[in-house]
Amino acid sequence: MRRLGFLLAIAVVIVVAIVAFRSTRADALDKNGCLTCHSNPGLSTTTKAGAKVSLFVNEALINTAAHRYIDCTTCHSADPHKVATPLTKLSLAEKCGSCHQYEYEQHLNSIHGQQLAQGNPDVATCVDCHSPTANPHNVIRVLEYNAPTYKKNISETCAKCHDNQQLMANYGIVEKVYESYMRSFHGKAMQLGTYEITQLDKATCTNCHGVHDIKSVADPAAPVAGLDNLAKTCEQCHPGAGVEFAKGFLGHKEASPDNIPAAHYTENVFRVLLISVLTFGALVVSAAVVRYSINRWRD
Ligand code: HEC
Ligand code: HEC
Ligand code: HEC
Ligand code: HEC
Ligand code: HEC
Ligand code: HEC
Ligand code: HEC
Repeated sequence: MRRLGFLLAIAVVIVVAIVAFRSTRADALDKNGCLTCHSNPGLSTTTKAGAKVSLFVNEALINTAAHRYIDCTTCHSADPHKVATPLTKLSLAEKCGSCHQYEYEQHLNSIHGQQLAQGNPDVATCVDCHSPTANPHNVIRVLEYNAPTYKKNISETCAKCHDNQQLMANYGIVEKVYESYMRSFHGKAMQLGTYEITQLDKATCTNCHGVHDIKSVADPAAPVAGLDNLAKTCEQCHPGAGVEFAKGFLGHKEASPDNIPAAHYTENVFRVLLISVLTFGALVVSAAVVRYSINRWRD
């Protein structure tokens, strides 16, 4: 009897612990039971603009998100169904901006934000850079290894759009910015480095272009516009670099007779030299083989 009572007591403790643990987790996240409906993957609505938007909120994603301790109603008001949002990339940024004002203001003045304000859905809104699934409930903290904003991952994040040649051609951007970055010293060194933050001191896209304040490269205020600005950008990490150092930088362009001709012609001279040396080597070896065969045959 006593042993049975003991086992029963243990079972009760375990059950209570499980229930308590689960309910506190659910409470912290969803005090109003919003997920009773919004955890249904099929729930969706049609916006005024005619787009079908999923209203499914994935609890598993929320549990690892930066905002996992913020209740639904903190962001959505106590009566979310009364507040009709157009559910666009712009309304999304505005909602994030209701708390993150500084980032919002900067983004609004960037090339991405200005286009967004004009209703262009092609450019980056907050979650395109902050969520691996571009979902407002799956924003990852900046310094987590799997965050799209973790320095090692940033070039991939920009590449989602900037390595899409079709999309870029619509904006007259013809340079393959991602490929040329990955070919550059910085890109290679970043790729070879581990995820340790100390290995990530090389330049990635945002070190040269900015983060929330990215400007058109044609804007004279852009950190990459003109040699003076560019030199200052290099100097963040290459102290005393100066204009001469920046001049040698090809940007994303390939060297050509018009763009850094010295690099273009040097490259060509080396290519011709390499081909000549290899051809000469091949000739010498073939001649030796022929000579050797003839000698053997004579013997
Ligand atoms: C009884 C089920 C149910 C519950 C509970 C519920 N919702 Fe909804 N919710 C819906 C449905 C259905 C829609 C789509 C309505 C439509 O198409 O107009 C919706 C739409 C929404 C939208 C989109 C609104 C828009 O702008 O069009 C948000 C945001 C939202 N719900 C948040 C919440 C939050 C936060 C809670 C908890 C406080 C909650 N919901 C609780 C069923 C529910
Ligand atoms: C940190 C703030 C935040 C929290 C917490 C949050 N949301 Fe959202 N939610 C957003 C933003 C931002 C949007 C995008 C709104 C827009 O596009 O106008 C959104 C959109 C939605 C939508 C519309 C569909 C979509 O995915 O765009 C629903 C439904 C929704 N949220 C429900 C919930 C529920 C349920 C919870 C709690 C489990 C919750 N939200 C918690 C910020 C939040
Ligand atoms: C083009 C990509 C991109 C867009 C768009 C973007 N962010 Fe960021 N964000 C980043 C990166 C990269 C970092 C990390 C910055 C760093 O390491 O200094 C960051 C950092 C942050 C931080 C952490 C604090 C800080 O400043 O370091 C917050 C909060 C934030 N962003 C909010 C937002 C909000 C809100 C929006 C939309 C209005 C937004 N971001 C749009 C790329 C972006
Ligand atoms: C209700 C206010 C609120 C809204 C709305 C909100 N956030 Fe946050 N956000 C916070 C708070 C508070 C934290 C810090 C959470 C913590 O540290 O536990 C945070 C953290 C973050 C971080 C992590 C910063 C870091 O240092 O790593 C990012 C990135 C971020 N938010 C982006 C967004 C984006 C993008 C949106 C829109 C989808 C958004 N936030 C909407 C309040 C908000
Ligand atoms: C969701 C897609 C998307 C993402 C993600 C994105 N961008 Fe963009 N970006 C665009 C589009 C589209 C344009 C063209 C806008 C225009 O020219 O009007 C643009 C414009 C730019 C420009 C200006 C180009 C010019 O013609 O001068 C720069 C620089 C830029 N982005 C850098 C970045 C960087 C760096 C990142 C990553 C941190 C990034 N973008 C992430 C879509 C994106
Ligand atoms: C975020 C910091 C950062 C920025 C900004 C930056 N670099 Fe670098 N760069 C590095 C690091 C770190 C190395 C590797 C140094 C090493 O390991 O010797 C490097 C290496 C180089 C190298 C090859 C090795 C060498 O030391 O000569 C060149 C060339 C170079 N950078 C040019 C530039 C130019 C041009 C700019 C400006 C357009 C620039 N960098 C901006 C961090 C940066
Ligand atoms: C070391 C500095 C540096 C780094 C790193 C860098 N850029 Fe650039 N970027 C420039 C400069 C300088 C220009 C302007 C000259 C040019 O177009 O080559 C430029 C131009 C651009 C343009 C406009 C091209 C056009 O045709 O108008 C885009 C878009 C862009 N960069 C995106 C990116 C992305 C995305 C990354 C990361 C994958 C990146 N950049 C990394 C310096 C850099």
